[in-house]
Amino acid sequence: MRVNLLEKKRYWWGHAWKGLACIALVALGTGCVNANDKVELLDKDWTHLAGAEMVDEGVRIEGLGRAIVPTDDADDQTPVANPPINLRGPVLRVKGDFALSARLSRLESSPDDSAYLTIYGELPLTQDEWRQDGRAVTLGLEGNDLIVELQNGIDDYERHAYPLPASAMSQGTDVSLARIGDRFSIRINDETVALIDDPGLFDSGVLWFGASASEDGEYLLQSLTARPLDRRSEVTIMDNQIPVLSAEEEVSAATSLRHLAEKNHPRLYIGTAVAAIPLLSDKKYARILAREFSMVTPENAMKFQFIHPGPDSYAFADADAIVDFAQANDMAIHGHTLAWKEALPRWVTGSDYTDQQLKDILAKHIAKVVGRYKGRVQSWDVVNEPFEPFGATLRTGSPWYQSMGKDYIAFALREAHRADPEARLYINDYALEHPGPKSDAMHALAKSLLERGVPLHGIGFQMHEDMTDDYQPVEASVFRDNVQRFIDLGLEVRISEMDVNLQDNDSQERLQQQAEYYRSILELAMDIPAFTAFSTWGFTDRYSSLQEWWEADGFGNGLIFDANHQPKPAYFSLQEALKE
Ligand code: XIL
Repeated sequence: MRVNLLEKKRYWWGHAWKGLACIALVALGTGCVNANDKVELLDKDWTHLAGAEMVDEGVRIEGLGRAIVPTDDADDQTPVANPPINLRGPVLRVKGDFALSARLSRLESSPDDSAYLTIYGELPLTQDEWRQDGRAVTLGLEGNDLIVELQNGIDDYERHAYPLPASAMSQGTDVSLARIGDRFSIRINDETVALIDDPGLFDSGVLWFGASASEDGEYLLQSLTARPLDRRSEVTIMDNQIPVLSAEEEVSAATSLRHLAEKNHPRLYIGTAVAAIPLLSDKKYARILAREFSMVTPENAMKFQFIHPGPDSYAFADADAIVDFAQANDMAIHGHTLAWKEALPRWVTGSDYTDQQLKDILAKHIAKVVGRYKGRVQSWDVVNEPFEPFGATLRTGSPWYQSMGKDYIAFALREAHRADPEARLYINDYALEHPGPKSDAMHALAKSLLERGVPLHGIGFQMHEDMTDDYQPVEASVFRDNVQRFIDLGLEVRISEMDVNLQDNDSQERLQQQAEYYRSILELAMDIPAFTAFSTWGFTDRYSSLQEWWEADGFGNGLIFDANHQPKPAYFSLQEALKE
């Protein structure tokens, strides 16, 4: 009782002070907090969030169950949830104390579905084998609870659950999350239910939003607003758009790789793999990309588990963003990838389908994905990595091989051709650069496909190379001899995924060797007309797929820009080569 009275007193005094402060501020012309400072987030674009649909009552959120499947050798085989993020929607800048209020409403038709809203202060980095979590708070309705999850970077995760009042369960639930100093205050229908220490999850000052539901479930996000809690605090909102290089930036790009190639080697695309999250959240990344490259390959966004998470659900948003970005910046797009043994969601690998059913799944997948980007994606890695790592035999483990035997390759190529007769169709693999059993086997495969009239147009040589004290990558002259026999079959060829990974040693000397090696391969591609693209697997070490904490053996430092997005010697050597 006494505590309550005291709090009441403080409350009134607080308000009286605010009132006085307001009068003073109005007199000074600086204003104070009022209802007009509240910003609406559902007015912004939610049409580009996978699984979301804007309806009269708000945004209907469907749970796609998108997840990252661990590699076969991982101890923990539980897929990691990879819910979509609204990268082309509202971005909120926050300063000081603020509150976010949301109304989450379960649908009458599916009152038991879980409903989630995630607010990211730092976006995750996602690859198809792992998700490196950033910093975020998830608010969710699960059963009779409100759950609050705090993710504070890799491996630092905490979860709380609070019972929902009966009133909150029948209709919508108003949930609010306020950051007050270094604590979060959580409210359900205007009752404070918890104060939780905030480890600084929103310190970046820039917030992104994501929403999802339990798999195949749905709910209605009925409102979402933000407001500052005192006069020193601020919330401002903007709608994030696809970045386009300005005319001014284009002029200054006269010595960029793409510009030099367009001028001196017009048939050769300068390409790179691209990830959707940095593309839409890191301005510098997007600017370098549009300035330097004339072709993009979605690094993961078109892989099966990303784009087709459930039998009837697709998550096109990330791939769409990359395609839209490429088109807006006048870049070509190479699609990756349709028939592969990796990146397959559990719904494909975990059921007892008949051979015919698997064949139908692949056909439908190809028709849907290739069909969506028909006329926009110029070429595809239809079949990826069909051979054993260093052997001459086909990989037999994939559901595609299991159901069709080696014919899955011709089948996939024909289905892709049917979906887009203009697209150039590739088989892509690694360790093919030098002569040997694997390259021989690829050559024999390509030859037999062509003899049978299967629509195959080219071979992608991935060119993932390592450079250490005792190991040097395959020499350009060796590659040159070997690639010629593929060209002699009448095929196009491309360097599809080049990186030159170093181990621990990043001395100037080693970076110089790396630069020379990059240059020797580019010169080869410039020299031989059958090469259609010189593509690297990402361009900046900041988002390399070989992240230190993930990759064994400490390889990395393999791309042409460093982790601060600064050009490395390799960049300058490619630039020099293209000037000729
Ligand atoms: C890699 C991605 O870059 C990583 O992010 C992911 O974790 C694994 O896949 N050959 C391919 C690419 O064809 O799809 C692979 O990409 C690298 C090897």
